[in-house]
Amino acid sequence: MGIKILGTGRYIPEQVVTNDDLSKLVETNDEWIASRTGISERHISGWEPAWYMGLKAAETAIKKAGINPEEIGVVIGCTISNDYHTPAMANIIQGKLGALNALSFDLNAACSGFVYAVDTARRFLETDENIKYAVIIASENLSRVVDFSDRNTCILFGDGAAATVIEKSDTLYSSYLGSDGTIANVLFARSVNTNPTFAVESDFNDGFDGDKMHSLYQNGKEVYKFAVKALPHAFGKAAEKINISAEEIDLFIPHQANYRILETAAKNLGVSMDKMFVTLDKFGNTSSASIPIALDIALEQNKIKENDKICLVGFGAGLTSASIIMEF
Ligand code: UT7
Repeated sequence: MGIKILGTGRYIPEQVVTNDDLSKLVETNDEWIASRTGISERHISGWEPAWYMGLKAAETAIKKAGINPEEIGVVIGCTISNDYHTPAMANIIQGKLGALNALSFDLNAACSGFVYAVDTARRFLETDENIKYAVIIASENLSRVVDFSDRNTCILFGDGAAATVIEKSDTLYSSYLGSDGTIANVLFARSVNTNPTFAVESDFNDGFDGDKMHSLYQNGKEVYKFAVKALPHAFGKAAEKINISAEEIDLFIPHQANYRILETAAKNLGVSMDKMFVTLDKFGNTSSASIPIALDIALEQNKIKENDKICLVGFGAGLTSASIIMEF
């Protein structure tokens, strides 16, 4: 069983932080950031919590879908930067939307979160005949977890949210959800009151203590090595189930982390960069929100036509990777 996308929406906070702005905070420059990552600027939230950005994105998506909030059966939130340990971001948004007939929960698969959540929602639609519509909302306030004195991370990330309303359909669909927790220690952020001897961290000493205790840590090189393989691997796993080749995909909407990662992944897939939809220059890496933001923009720019085959594909902390191949 496949899915039909009925509506999408996004919320991007107003404040723009350029590479030049960051060069006033850390020893970096526009040339280095642009050439190593492809990122020129990112948006940073002001007062807006993650749930608020997610709510605004969801309201737009629901309006475009032309459905009533009471008709929604599932609300899944994807975030690694919720404002609360509990309740889930999805619970807050469900209440604000008035989607009171929906079950709601958050799913944390980091930057692969949206792909994980769409596929999870599809399983609800397939197995529960009382559930007609699902809303998937990815919202990230990464500026709250990034250390703005760490040039290894602060240049990469941005804030933003996007949402998608789906229903089931009999169109082409295949998915892959993957995880390798043995390398979880290359990308993480500690919770409040965490025990620093937690197993993930046992084999390295990053110096992230004191004020930086809860900041996002990453070993960029290791994540990079994983990413360039994970994107083609995740596509391949979903593709082999339906016997489809990369050339048959009209548009890839990948996780927006680094232009060089996308170039290498495209090469490994044997497709040209024209088939990779790229928005990272304007938004940086917004973790779980990056794929749905790109999807919303691709639809707005008429980059996707009816019957096109698209691939949503991501990778991230966990380390996770995931893909969905679907027909529009
Ligand atoms: O959602 C998943 C999240 N994470 C990712 O996708 C990250 C994946 N990794 C990457 O994108 C890249 O590894 C980075 C962009 C993080 C780093 O690029 P790189 O080409 O791997 O650079 P590097 O870490 O090898 O650093 C090269 C040089 C070093 O200097 P030396 O040792 O050659 O003198 C760094 O100290 O660049 C230096 N450097 C910087 N210079 C200016 C590192 N960060 C910066 C910076 N500005 N921001």
